[in-house]
Amino acid sequence: MATTPSPGPVRLRVRRGSGSDPSVFRYDSFEVPWEEGMVVLDAVHYVQAMVDPTLSARWNCKAARCGSCSAEINGRPKLMCKTRVDSIDGEITVEPMKAFPLLKDLVTDVGENWKVAAMIPAFSPKSPKAREWKFYQRDVERSREFRKCIECFLCQDVCHVIREHEAEYIGPRWVVKAASLDMHPMDSLNRSKFMKDAGGLGYCNITKCCQEICPEHIVITDDAIIPEKERVVDRRYDPAVWLYRNLPRDQRQLEVAIKKVLKLAFWAALLAPLVAVPILFLAKALLG
Ligand code: SF4
Ligand code: SF4
Ligand code: FES
Repeated sequence: MATTPSPGPVRLRVRRGSGSDPSVFRYDSFEVPWEEGMVVLDAVHYVQAMVDPTLSARWNCKAARCGSCSAEINGRPKLMCKTRVDSIDGEITVEPMKAFPLLKDLVTDVGENWKVAAMIPAFSPKSPKAREWKFYQRDVERSREFRKCIECFLCQDVCHVIREHEAEYIGPRWVVKAASLDMHPMDSLNRSKFMKDAGGLGYCNITKCCQEICPEHIVITDDAIIPEKERVVDRRYDPAVWLYRNLPRDQRQLEVAIKKVLKLAFWAALLAPLVAVPILFLAKALLG
């Protein structure tokens, strides 16, 4: 059987450092024997096993399912277990994700994400007592894509709002989560206020960087972020939605609404001559 000729050893360069003082770091270079089908995580494992057992890296499945081996490979957020060494020309530089606090070498602390997860208003079924839920398949399909997320947090890492600004933005992974709840056919909540205020959705300027790097190919910006932004705008600025939301729902609300309208009409009738008379005088003076 024919085998692919070896392109020579893999040249690996790894950023080393400790979370106790992230400003102190160095790059170590290694030569790793090439093997067919090898991924960057294999090269890291070789270094750990054969050269330097103190090199720290997080992984679990080696099958692009657990989201643990996220790192920056030649400056681009990627899964180490899904990145073949022969897809990269020349030296391979591996660094930890920069958006999260460093623990050691390639391992970062992504714990902040679980605090954000707890903030998102949970799934709230429309009819909790109903024994049977019925909905169309097309309604299920809308949020199915979002449930492919493996929580690798590469999208959080690449997002410039999270990375470079200390803005109160929950980040693309959590917009995807909110969208999956909002688009669930049996959910009853409207998360627009949360997304606008606590979620900081307005900080996202739709650069689509998160969408480009998602290893699960979730169309984060087009399918989750933009619809969530549209929900915020609809709820807040659409006069028809505003009117519908403020329609009186019972006798008491109706009485309050009538009183408000009468009050408004009274003040309009009182103030109209005060505004109209000077305008008429001005117009007359100007027109001769
Ligand atoms: S949305 Fe994609 S990039 Fe973001 S955490 Fe989920 S799988 Fe990873
Ligand atoms: S589209 Fe929004 S969430 Fe995604 S990387 Fe750009 S600013 Fe961040
Ligand atoms: S080791 Fe599980 S995603 Fe890479």
